[in-house]
Amino acid sequence: MLFDGKKIAFIGPGVMAEAMIAGLIRQGLVEKDALRAAGPTRERLEHLHNRYEIGITQDNTAAARDADVVVLSVKPQRLDRVLAGLKASVHPEALVLSIVAGASMEKISNGLDHTRVVRSMPNTPAQIGEGITVWTASLEVTEEQKQMTCQILGALGQEIFVEEENYLNMATALSGTGPAYVFLFMEAMVDAGVHLGFPRRIAEQLVSQTVRGSVDFYQKNEDQVHLARLRNQVTSPGGTSAEALYYLEKAGFRTAISRAIWAAYERSVELGRADKDQKTSKDHRND
Ligand SMILES: NC(=O)c1ccc[n+]([C@@H]2O[C@H](COP(=O)([O-])OP(=O)(O)OC[C@H]3O[C@@H](n4cnc5c(N)ncnc54)[C@H](OP(=O)(O)O)[C@@H]3O)[C@@H](O)[C@H]2O)c1
Repeated sequence: MLFDGKKIAFIGPGVMAEAMIAGLIRQGLVEKDALRAAGPTRERLEHLHNRYEIGITQDNTAAARDADVVVLSVKPQRLDRVLAGLKASVHPEALVLSIVAGASMEKISNGLDHTRVVRSMPNTPAQIGEGITVWTASLEVTEEQKQMTCQILGALGQEIFVEEENYLNMATALSGTGPAYVFLFMEAMVDAGVHLGFPRRIAEQLVSQTVRGSVDFYQKNEDQVHLARLRNQVTSPGGTSAEALYYLEKAGFRTAISRAIWAAYERSVELGRADKDQKTSKDHRND
């Protein structure tokens, strides 16, 4: 088995780490004693220990020291401190797998003085194993470590490997931020339903099942029919869909979506650059 004798340490035992731990155990990919979690809060660690029977510690370095895979799953604002604390504790041949939003490969690699790094971008449905994660790896990451990455990220749902890091910024805008667009769209539909006169609970059920059913219908269509054709199927001449779609197009719906996603991409690039500039100016001050 791929993970035989391998130890995986989760630095940052939050929601995403738990989703990975639960998925790996559920799929029988790892033994429970191969997993350990490190974080600051005793109660949180005890919850993970009681539920999954994994090792726990409040000492990040102790968790990382002999681990074959070190998963970085802290919030972005905690990352600098965590990297500084872990430096020199990670084995040079271990894989460092980061799910921290916006943290570049360079930042992680420099922060830990470590070459084998995977950067990934999951999304919120990962919390129920229905996410999609885009990831990339440094050149030093071995084939076996890439396979381990597929399995660990697979515990969160689907995963897609990309060669270039810039795709991570694009994925941040499309799939990472994507649930926010979907939820806003659904919220607007529910509010419209309430405006029409439906009780909110019924409007929510109608919208939620309509979205779920539409997605399933699209994904299960074996002939890979284009989205526009599926839309045309519900648009009869002079009918209700035609009327509604006319208003959506007139209001710039398509352009708004496109611009929003482009803006999110630019923001992601900008945040990465700001992080780098901040580090460079700090380095200059220390010179
Ligand atoms: N949630 C998502 O759907 C999602 C999607 C895409 C990307 N991500 C990325 O995934 C990462 C984790 O997100 P999350 O939602 O799992 O966050 P979370 O639930 O807040 O988990 C973060 C964990 O890190 C712990 N922590 C704080 N300081 C620490 C330290 N110095 N050393 C070790 N652990 C520390 C926290 O402990 P305390 O709570 O006790 O402080 C908490 O258990 C983030 O970087 C986020 O950008 C998440």
